[in-house]
This record gives sequence, structure tokens and C-alpha cells, in this order.
Amino acid sequence: TGGCPFAHGSGETRDLLGRTNRDWWPDSLDLSILTADGRSADPMDPGFDYAEAFNALDYKALKQDLTDLMTDSQPWWPADYGHYGPFFIRMAWHAAGTYRTGDGRGGASSGQQRFAPLNSWPDNGNLDKARRLLWPIKQKYGKHISWADLFILTGNVAIESMGGPTFGYGGGRKDVYEPETVYWGTEAEWVDTGAQTRIDEEGRALESPLAAIQMGLIYVNPEGPGGNPHDAEGMARDMRETFARMAMNDEETVALTAGGHAFGKCHGAQPSDTFGSGPEGESMQHLGFGWLTDPEEIEKGHITTSGIEGAWTPNPTQWGNDYFRLLFKYEYELTESPAGAKQWTPVNPEEADMAPDARDPSKKVPTIMTTADMALKRDPEYRKISERFLNDQAALDDAFARAWFKLCHRDMGPKVRYMGPEVPEETLIWQDPVPAGTQASDDAVSYFKAKVLDSDLTVAELVKAAWASASTYRNSDHRGGANGARIRLAPQKDWAVNDPEELAKVLSTLDGLRGNLSMADAIVLAGAAAIEKAAKDGGHDVSVKVTTGRGDAGEEHTDAESFEPLEPFADAFRNYLKTKADVKTEDMMVDRAHLLGLSIPEMTALIGGMRALGAVSTHAKHGNSIGVLTDRPGTLSNDFFVNLLEMGTVWDVVDESGDEEFVGRCRIHGDEKWRATRTDLVFGSNSQLRAIAESYAETGGEERMVRDFVRAWTKVMDADRFDLRCAKYH
Ligand code: HEM
Repeated sequence: TGGCPFAHGSGETRDLLGRTNRDWWPDSLDLSILTADGRSADPMDPGFDYAEAFNALDYKALKQDLTDLMTDSQPWWPADYGHYGPFFIRMAWHAAGTYRTGDGRGGASSGQQRFAPLNSWPDNGNLDKARRLLWPIKQKYGKHISWADLFILTGNVAIESMGGPTFGYGGGRKDVYEPETVYWGTEAEWVDTGAQTRIDEEGRALESPLAAIQMGLIYVNPEGPGGNPHDAEGMARDMRETFARMAMNDEETVALTAGGHAFGKCHGAQPSDTFGSGPEGESMQHLGFGWLTDPEEIEKGHITTSGIEGAWTPNPTQWGNDYFRLLFKYEYELTESPAGAKQWTPVNPEEADMAPDARDPSKKVPTIMTTADMALKRDPEYRKISERFLNDQAALDDAFARAWFKLCHRDMGPKVRYMGPEVPEETLIWQDPVPAGTQASDDAVSYFKAKVLDSDLTVAELVKAAWASASTYRNSDHRGGANGARIRLAPQKDWAVNDPEELAKVLSTLDGLRGNLSMADAIVLAGAAAIEKAAKDGGHDVSVKVTTGRGDAGEEHTDAESFEPLEPFADAFRNYLKTKADVKTEDMMVDRAHLLGLSIPEMTALIGGMRALGAVSTHAKHGNSIGVLTDRPGTLSNDFFVNLLEMGTVWDVVDESGDEEFVGRCRIHGDEKWRATRTDLVFGSNSQLRAIAESYAETGGEERMVRDFVRAWTKVMDADRFDLRCAKYH
């Protein structure tokens, strides 16, 4: 599912970031000028090593404190049924549940639930209280546990403390101290009832990379599409699509939803207009609390969060199979909560199948199902799975534990990044495992590089292959990259951006030359050899550092389908554009640079250098010359910047290109000199990028550019070398 994260055919151009915090909360304090000149918002010491701090954590003591917290009910926000477990599971699930496969962004890995907009999303209602309940523990353990790790560990402890199954826990989520800039959509209203759902009536796909059905939701509207409880088909469609966007199949979706709702209750005791604004928009004296409720009402348990009211089972703080038992035992009828939300209640429930009141266990109240829960029996595919789980508790235990583990760790990248004593031994396919590689000797490396340069392969071909291999990396969910050499496998080997025929030729030649080197190392070494040669041809003696030790993954280590969202639909570095999108092509360049973790000068040096090397996709129009503003392609030089900024050329748009292609002509004679794209000309037209381009084009700039290029290149090649960087827990 998904497709190009930027092209869904609406025909309207949008900003890269859509609606931002400043649009939602124009009056909130703007700290951005304090970080605008590169100063960090992070208060930790510059050399702070979270892995080291985590390794010194008393993990057992922390888990015990969390277990005790579950039943330490606080008068300012009493625990339903005397147990905070369900509330904390929802907190952890909503922390992880923003993850989306389309661009790997969202998820639990940096503690974003603390910041806007997520801290104030309607779907995160009242989770500000859950985080405050955790504060004394966060305070006690300090730098040894990040908020991000704590959210997920608390979810695990909550499940365990109610007898539920878990599969393990990996720490290693380092906190950030400012909101991440993520595209969450363009809508100007939270859960806009007019718009109903981002999947439109013709069934047009949910806009990629978004993974929620409406602005401000984690996934779907629990009352049905647009709040319509009768649209059973639409409900299942919305669930299937949104869960797929976070890498969950039907079985995982059923296990997670039913397993989650074995616990806790929904809150809809009051009409929903009493539900105030979220933390970000609330007055100062509330110190970051939102969704304010009168303390007396809180004490009585009159809380409104989703607006739906009631528990799913008679034992909301005990793991078991009551959820499916009740779902199948009873007919459910449509009712309304006191807050006016549509929900389903069993017809004529036996007393033993009723739930306790959240504040008074002697009182019995009817259980409920949301329209989303009803989909687990109304949708034929979900139903088959639900029936299996109804009759096989062990299967549900296993499926829930595994899906929960995946939900909470999907955005952490390879297993080597996990820390702590509860990291499961078993390796899972979604962790994109790569067999360990070995370090190559200096002799083997030199011998191989000499042979590569002796082969028929060109500098451009070698550079493109290495770039194709490494540049799938995403800093968001730490997937992709050169390790594993998955560039040899489907789907990568067939992506148009990779010029499949040319790539196959390069890979087969390198395979013949590599001896004992892994293919992953060979591809990167060959790129390095080509760059060293190209630099030398330009008069620069540079050495491109390669740390060998990459392994080769096989098909058996690879869930090919899960790699599809990594396909670049635009790659400015290779001057490639597959589909004209809803954001400007130069916005896509910035987006990709961000996913690669590049700074503005790094992005600029890489683009200028790759153009000079002729490393552009031949798939682009004009063969391999578009944007190659040099008479000596294959030599590493600053020619791209020099020629772009040269006043003897006038540029004009090529009319039929839809603003994507430009022609550069001699100002005096009018004859054509160059062809270029938006991501070429932007280095002359955008004042900030132009300033950097000028610095590389001026006297002395070439040497600096070559140095910056090599450094940025190595950064991309090594982006996924966690095996070199990750501390092990002991
Ligand atoms: C609570 C909807 C999936 C765990 C809720 C509530 C709603 C809801 C409306 C009530 C919130 C409130 O008013 O306090 C949904 C929908 C889902 C979904 C529509 C997917 C289609 C999940 C998943 C999990 C989960 C995957 C975890 C694995 C919980 C828990 C609560 C809860 C534990 C109870 C919180 C408490 O007692 O305070 N959910 N949920 N839910 N959900 Fe879900």
C-alpha cells in the first residue's frame, strides 16, 4: 500500500510539512530563533552517550517501581479499577502507533508524545495525565531511561502486571527535546466530521505517507467511518489500510486490537462539549495539562476522553479471552454513550458478563464494543482470525505478544540497536536481519579497487551503484542502507531509479572481481575507488575511507514487500523524478536529504559532486546528461556550481515539461549549452542554497567542495553501520 509519498493525484501543490504547530497554535511561545543558527535544543552534555547511561540503569528496580506504580492510585487522577495498566498500555500504543511505513517517520523512538502536535491530538486525549503519573519515576532514574524508552517499557510492565504475554523489550530510544517536523496532513480541523475519512468515496487511496484516517487520530474513527456505525465495510477498510501503513497484517491487527481491548475501558461519561482543549492550547497555570475536568467529576469517574463509555470485558485488569468470548456470545445493539458517542452493547447480558464500575466494584455496568471492535466479527477475513483466537488462547497469546513487540520496536531499525536484558534471542524478519560480515585486509581492498578501475565500468556507473545501495537508508526508522547488499534483491534491483540494466551489469562485474569480499563491501569500495580516481583526475588527492565488515543478506532474510515503501520516487542526487508530485521536486530533495541525515552543505556538496561525476539516472530524459553541467563528466570538480552561476548562460523553462526541465543557452548566441531540472537550478535561485553554491564555486572552493563531498559520501555509505556504533548492554 502507499505508493509515492508525495503523489496522490489531487493536482494541488502543498507545502512539504502541511499544517504545522505554528498553524495550529499561533500564540504558543516560538523558540525557533534560538535554534535557527544551529544551536541545539538538547540540554544533555555534548558527549552524552545514552547507551552508556542505559547500561548503567538498574533495570530490575525500574521495572519493580513501574509495577508498584500500576496500583498506586493518585487522587488527582484515580486509577480505574485501582489499576493504571490499561491507561499506560494506551499511552504506549499511541506513542508507537504514529509510525508509518511510507517514510518511516512517527513512532515511539524519540518521545514525541511529549510535544505538539501529538501531545494535543484529540486521539491522545488525557494521555497528558498518564505521562504525569510517570514523572516521579522518570525523575528518579534520570538520564538512565529516556522518556521514549519509558513509555514503551511502561506499556510492557502494564501488560505483564495484568497477566498478559510479552515477547521482550529493547531499549535504545534517545529522547529529543523539540518537536520533530513531520507531515501530518493539510486539514485545518481535528477529526473533521465534514471530511469523514481520508479515503474518499471512490475508494481512492489514503494519502501517502499518512497512516491515519483523519487529522488528529492515531488510526481510525472508533465510531465508524465519519462516525457512521452502520458502515461495517468501510470500518474494516479503514482499519486494514491504516494498520497496513504501520506494517501490520490482518492477523496482527486482530490480535493487537482484541488484545489491547482485553484491558481497560472507554471514557465518555459527559457530553463531549465539556471536553476542553489539549495541553498545547491550555492556559499557563495548568502547566501543560489539557482536557481539563472538574476534580469532583474526576473523583466520581466521570471522565470523557473518546466519548465512548464502558469496558469491553468483565475483567478489565486481567488478561484472558473474555473479549472474544463476549464478542461471539452476544448479539450487540447500537446504543449511545452519555457523551453521545455511537457504541455497541450486548443484548440481554448475563450479570456475570457485565463489567464492574470503574470506581465502585460492587456496581455492575454493561460492557461495550466500538464499531472498530465489531469489525473483528463483521468483516469476513477478520472474523476467521477472531474465531481462531476465540478457540485457541495460546495462539492469541503468541500473536498478541509478537505484534505488540513489533508495534513498539518497528521504528528502531536493526536488532543491534536494541539494548537491555530483555532483548529476545529470536531474530524477526521485519528487523531486516543481515548476516555478520568480516573485515577485509588492506591488501584485499587495494587489489580489488585496482581491478575495479581496470574494468570497463565507468566512474558514473560505479558511483551510481554505490549510491543506489546506500541511499535507501532512512534516519526515521533506520531501515535501508548498504549493509546486506539488498540492492541485488527484489524489489530494489528493479526500481527504475536504479537503471536496472546498468545496475545488473555493474553488480555482475563486481561479483566476478570481489574474491572473499562481501558484495555489500564490494559495492561501497568500488564507489570509493571511482571517486578517488575522479578526484585525482581533477587534481585532488583524496582517500575515501571505507570500513569493511558488511554482510550480504539473502532472500530468506528479506521481506521483499516491506521494502517497497523505500523506493525513491524522486532522487535529486541522481536527478531522477518518477512522478510529478503534490510537493515541489526540490521539496522532495530536502525530504530525502532529511531522511539521510544530511546538513544543507552536505546535500549541496553531494549534488554538485554527483553531477560532476555524471552520476545521474539514465532513466531521466536526455540520457545521462541532464544537470551534468561540465565538459568533463567523470572528474570530481566544482564545475556544476561554476557553470550554474555563470552569467553567460540564460535559462528558460522547457514549456512541455510542466516546469520540471530547463534549457540553458548562450546569452549572446542563443545556442543551447545545458539541460537541467528544478533540483539543479534551485542551487542558483534559492538564496540560501545559492550562497553555498557560490562558496563552492569561488576560488579555493573546489578543494573544500571535494573534501565536503567525500565526507558526506562516507556518511551516507556508513549511515547504517550500527554494528560499528552500538554499545552492547552488559
Ligand atoms: C482504549 C479505540 C486499537 C489498547 C480505547 C478507546 C478507544 C479505542 C475509543 C477509549 C479511549 C478512552 O475513551 O479512554 C481503538 C481503535 C483501535 C484500537 C479504534 C483500532 C482499530 C488498540 C490497540 C491497543 C489498544 C492496538 C493496544 C494493543 C487500548 C487500551 C485502552 C484503549 C488498553 C483502554 C485505556 C484505558 O482503560 O484508559 N481504544 N483502539 N487499542 N485501547 Fe484501543
